[in-house]
Amino acid sequence: MPVLSAQNLKKSFTTPAGTIEVLRNVNLAVAPGESVSVRGESGAGKTTLLQILGGLDTPDSGELFWNGERITKRGNAFLAKARTKLIGYVFQFFHLVPELTALENVLLAARIAGTPMRQAREQAKELLARVGLAERTSHLPTKLSGGECQRVAIARALINRPPLILADEPTGNLDECTGEAIMQLIIDVCREQNTALLLVTHNLDFAARTDRRLVLRHGILEEI
Ligand SMILES: Nc1ncnc2c1ncn2[C@@H]1O[C@H](COP(=O)(O)OP(=O)(O)OP(=O)(O)O)[C@@H](O)[C@H]1O
Ligand SMILES: [Mg+2]
Repeated sequence: MPVLSAQNLKKSFTTPAGTIEVLRNVNLAVAPGESVSVRGESGAGKTTLLQILGGLDTPDSGELFWNGERITKRGNAFLAKARTKLIGYVFQFFHLVPELTALENVLLAARIAGTPMRQAREQAKELLARVGLAERTSHLPTKLSGGECQRVAIARALINRPPLILADEPTGNLDECTGEAIMQLIIDVCREQNTALLLVTHNLDFAARTDRRLVLRHGILEEI
């Protein structure tokens, strides 16, 4: 059963300049452990799509399933709880809590999921070591480089062992060399943990490393 599937998703935005049809008819299924990349021009609707798939935004029509369960039209409380179990999100701009250390940022996600703190602390330290931050666990985000912040965000996305990671241009805000290392890290840890990955990227080389490559064009997701 796909960890994530979408059928006939449509989404448009109404602006003073008129209505933009961003997603016209999106169909997608992501199998457990599979990595899928999504490319598309700026403004093609990649972020809109990822937010809908992650339950952070709602489609105008169409159906969305998480682990086979229909989630379209479910309430926010249900979505928030189901999302914690199913999805780890990695954003372009990290979105770490500035007042919390690297370790605390990772632990926050475990706390939200209700994991006992002693167990979570061990797992968080292991994950931070896995992403190369064993020596930085007590640093605040302001004392970390961009690449290090994204490593923390990756550890945070993985702490609840979700079967799916959604990553929206996770290296878009990093220099080329750091971006390369971060992208390989995301792909490697998802493979190691058999976590499915839906990766939005502009970069053809990164896209080539995923099992399946899609392009969002004129509101439709095409296999290439
Ligand atoms: N809340 C909104 N209200 C109105 N228009 C929106 C809204 N969100 C997105 N859009 C428009 O929808 C289109 C798709 O935006 P989206 O951010 O999904 O593109 P994207 O493919 O992620 O682009 P980029 O590669 O630049 O991140 C754009 O034209 C954008 O201006
Ligand atoms: Mg975007």
